[in-house]
Amino acid sequence: MEILRDHDLKAFNSFGISSRAAVLARACFTTDVGEGVRMALQEQLPLKILGGGSNILLRGEQVAFVMKMEIPGLEITRRDGANVYVTAGAGCEWEQLINFALSNHLWGIENLTLIPGRVGSSPIQNIGAYGVELKDVFHSLVAYDRHTSGFVELGRDDCRFGYRQSIFKSAAKGRYIITQVTLKLSLEARPVLRYSHLNEALSVRGISNPELTDVVELIRSVRQTKLPDPLLIGSAGSFFKNPVVKNGIADVIKASHADAPVFDAGSGYSKLAAGWLIEQCGWKGFRDGDAGVWPHQALVLVNYGKATGVELSDLANRIIESVSDRFGVDLEPEVNFW
Ligand code: EPU
Repeated sequence: MEILRDHDLKAFNSFGISSRAAVLARACFTTDVGEGVRMALQEQLPLKILGGGSNILLRGEQVAFVMKMEIPGLEITRRDGANVYVTAGAGCEWEQLINFALSNHLWGIENLTLIPGRVGSSPIQNIGAYGVELKDVFHSLVAYDRHTSGFVELGRDDCRFGYRQSIFKSAAKGRYIITQVTLKLSLEARPVLRYSHLNEALSVRGISNPELTDVVELIRSVRQTKLPDPLLIGSAGSFFKNPVVKNGIADVIKASHADAPVFDAGSGYSKLAAGWLIEQCGWKGFRDGDAGVWPHQALVLVNYGKATGVELSDLANRIIESVSDRFGVDLEPEVNFW
């Protein structure tokens, strides 16, 4: 396993923030994982697992053993009627998996195109966009269990997926290191176009029976108009989760703001749009030095160049405070602070 000492992580986080790691270890083989765990223990450094670095905010030096998951692999492992099981290594780029599904005419993850990051991170926050979540197509994963020092296979129920939530962020936080993920995709066309603006955009294009490529192209164009280009502007996508609140709180907001987007979350709860709340508080397009709020989607914080992790987390805290003062709603970061 390649071991780099005192290494800058700037190239390995999508915010593009400079921060040195005491150790950066590149895990390219499954066997590297156990070795990394042992080395971190020997060196008495906390172990941190890095995927694509697209959901972290580095706030300072990393006095840690950072293991970067680079285990490759991408193949069809089983066919069962129209169901096709695709297995990918944790280090496979998510978009590479999308392109693989496209070229094999497999439906299920087309709405998740252009989500930055690696396959191994996708179950942790149950990535989702445009009415589809990873859990809808998830079959199983293989992970190194730090409690038993062996590998385990976990199925969908084991992972306890919820909105941007899973066992890997809650009860089993820090326990598993995901090495491989299997998705159950389908040869049968099953477009998910519940978001009305997707349907409208398709009819504008004169498409009534969309092909897989039509859906992917549409989602890509929607994302490109709303979200910063990861090659040009540092960000971590949505910085906050959409808050899930008791219906009573949503009703109060609706009473004074009829246009507030509110979605039923079941069991007496509603999901509010964090981007809307932030925009209402006047933050959309705000910029202080190189830390800012994306002008086309207020849920996204950006680094225009030399912002530090501390500047971005200070901005996040100011936003949290103002949304709380104005609406009595506590925003929770989706991004992990390192
Ligand atoms: N809105 C505003 N102002 C804003 C942003 C949003 O008023 O600045 C309103 C929109 O008009 C809409 C509602 O808020 O009525 C929801 O907005 P949008 O459809 O853009 O989605 P989102 O809830 O802001 C979530 C995901 C995104 C995903 C989109 C599309 C979370 C935390 N984020 O954002 O995921 O792409 O839906 O489905 O759930 C990511 O996780 O990095 C990410 C980009």
